[in-house]
Amino acid sequence: MHVMHYPFGKLEVDEDLILSLNGVALNGEPRLLRDIMSVLRNRGFVNDQNSGMVLYRMYRSVAVDPAHVGAFRMHSVRFDLTVMASCLLDREPNKTLGHIHQEAKPGLSYPELYQVLHGHASYLLQRFEGRTGRVSEFLVVDAGPGDAVLIPPNYGHVTVNVGGVPLVMANLVSTRFSSNYEPYMKLRGAAYYLLEGGIFEPNPNYSDLPQPARSGEKYPVSKDIYTDFLCCPKSYSFLNDPTRIGFRYCERR
Ligand SMILES: [Fe+2]
Repeated sequence: MHVMHYPFGKLEVDEDLILSLNGVALNGEPRLLRDIMSVLRNRGFVNDQNSGMVLYRMYRSVAVDPAHVGAFRMHSVRFDLTVMASCLLDREPNKTLGHIHQEAKPGLSYPELYQVLHGHASYLLQRFEGRTGRVSEFLVVDAGPGDAVLIPPNYGHVTVNVGGVPLVMANLVSTRFSSNYEPYMKLRGAAYYLLEGGIFEPNPNYSDLPQPARSGEKYPVSKDIYTDFLCCPKSYSFLNDPTRIGFRYCERR
């Protein structure tokens, strides 16, 4: 059992990745190994014995108190929690399927804000150039407990659990779109596969790839993204209007 205390509440995770918030078990949608088979570096890793393994559970539209539901709804924002197992998928640490977001304004897709609550994550952000679909930038942001990571407009994203413990993360995102997993499924994953030991291996299904860049910058958080949002929802209007984002990553190679 892993226990976390944040201003918004107490979280507990059991060995089946079931998440409880203030003592109440939440209902989550599981993502199984077979669901992400198409984006694995080694699809041969999946067999009849392991294909039903739960890699992560997604808990969408979570509210600590029913009185908070209206505030989230009014601003077209939802708060989600995700719990990812710590395991290896052949040589890749456990990862999400990967997706892109729809456009919110011409030429700008919806952003998203994550916060790591437990464990360590590497967020693999890749910028797709609209017309060609070429990846012009591949940015890696490493995050530990309390760190918040912005997914900027026009970046697809994959999260990798690089810690030796279950990864628990929260996110704030617009309710006005659905994630599009197709580009990642078609290209068999992100532009680079992150392997154990921190090795980045180019995905051969992409051409003309930039070198991976890293950023150590984090999005500023006061308490936690749930409490901060309820305190000042207007500060999060960028989630539905990306022209209002006042944050940029500075790269270090
Ligand atoms: Fe997303």
